[in-house]
Amino acid sequence: MSWTKDSLIAAARDAAAGAYAPYSQFHVGAALGFADGSVVTGANVENASYGLTLCAETVAVGKVLSAGLRGRLEAVAVIGGKAGQLGRGAPVSPCGRCRQMLSEVAQLGDSDPTVWCVGGDEVLEIRLSALLPHAFGPANLT
Ligand code: THU
Repeated sequence: MSWTKDSLIAAARDAAAGAYAPYSQFHVGAALGFADGSVVTGANVENASYGLTLCAETVAVGKVLSAGLRGRLEAVAVIGGKAGQLGRGAPVSPCGRCRQMLSEVAQLGDSDPTVWCVGGDEVLEIRLSALLPHAFGPANLT
């Protein structure tokens, strides 16, 4: 593992610079750290049809799966905030849809990743299984 908690959070922060968030002005970056040392990031992508917005975590998961990566997901870092306020508010934890998206990658690699939700006063550390207990997944379809 070549990434660390701090470097994964830094990668999420860097990724947030790529956010396309002209409607909410809320920029989010996510970084997914794998057991082989690789890191895949994403940023939120909004749309004039607001409900079509893609969260940062979902963008990162799309990058992972479409690149054919099937490694063991060990950790996820998420950071967000308005421009100039990134990471300064309450910890940003993955929305419900993103928990399910992350769970797909975790289950493929048989892991229960640590999720670091970055806030101004604290970095909330929580397992994905605590964010999404009794998750539905690939095994349900066999
Ligand atoms: N957002 C994320 O990217 N990830 C989350 O887990 C929560 C919300 C984005 C979606 C939207 O572009 C903006 O934050 C405000 O909801």
